[in-house]
Amino acid sequence: MTSLIIDTDPGVDDAFAIALACASPEVDLLAVTTVFGNVPLESTTRNALRLLALCGREDVPVARGAARPLVYPRVQEAEYAHGSDGLSGRAHTLPDPSRDVVGLDAVALMAQILRDAAAPVTIVPIGPLTNIALLLAAHPSLHAKIERLVIMGGGLSGGNTTATAEFNLWSDPEAAHRVLVEERVPTVLVPIDLTFACRVDRAWLSRLVAAGPLGATLAGLTDDYVAHYTKFFGYECTILHDAIAVAEAIRPGLLRTKTYPVEVDSTFGPGRGTLIADRREPDIIATFGAKQARALDIALETDVDEVRAFLLERLATG
Ligand code: RIB
Ligand code: CA
Repeated sequence: MTSLIIDTDPGVDDAFAIALACASPEVDLLAVTTVFGNVPLESTTRNALRLLALCGREDVPVARGAARPLVYPRVQEAEYAHGSDGLSGRAHTLPDPSRDVVGLDAVALMAQILRDAAAPVTIVPIGPLTNIALLLAAHPSLHAKIERLVIMGGGLSGGNTTATAEFNLWSDPEAAHRVLVEERVPTVLVPIDLTFACRVDRAWLSRLVAAGPLGATLAGLTDDYVAHYTKFFGYECTILHDAIAVAEAIRPGLLRTKTYPVEVDSTFGPGRGTLIADRREPDIIATFGAKQARALDIALETDVDEVRAFLLERLATG
């Protein structure tokens, strides 16, 4: 069994990620914590409650986290690629939750779960890293109870939200810097370089619809998200960024990583929120006397067809 906590900003691809965790028998989903991101915190939290109701998992506790970045407000509000309600305007089609969030905030709930866990827990952050930065800062004694962080974020060859920055890191660069550069908790970063390669097309979505009610409901959430990426790629497709991170959390090694020293641009220039991975040869880096930045495992390769088949097979069981 893999014990998971998912920290999320649902979000259409977050919906697929949560459903994948719920549909996977080897996953013990200990909690879902919410953060601002694709839409404001109230919407991401309501969507998380609804998605767990859809998946028949209202036993999984939900706790509300950060409503804004650690230090500075986002330099501009994100255009709603996920629709104004975060789920392509279809959130109302999901079941109403029969329960509310727990009385603890996200950091307190994650800390309680880590403290009480018999074995280390995998945390899968798939939104801005604000809650994770707060958890690591407030509870250094609990770092050893984190098996690893499997984080969806960053882009080595360009961004999606700006020319160079990916949305999750761009949303809170200071939090991203703390988690990815200053801390040493075992981490795999799943960047858009890889998630873009794993995009799914209309035929895949049609097979998901035909697979059963859960798949049909999830596919029904994708209209705005498909429209967003169709403009980008010129054919009907969408990218389930967050589900790919959860797939790696469920099947360690599904994604193949390379290790690079990284920095996160937290300045207020055009590169704010950019992940900077130093892919030069180590001896070249040493020649120029750069201080050794944190070496981070970054997922850059996989069998794309295997990932797509895994997602479809699991989501078809719902
Ligand atoms: O850049 C993709 C990431 O930003 C995904 O987590 C998506 O849900 C958005 O939060
Ligand atoms: Ca997300």
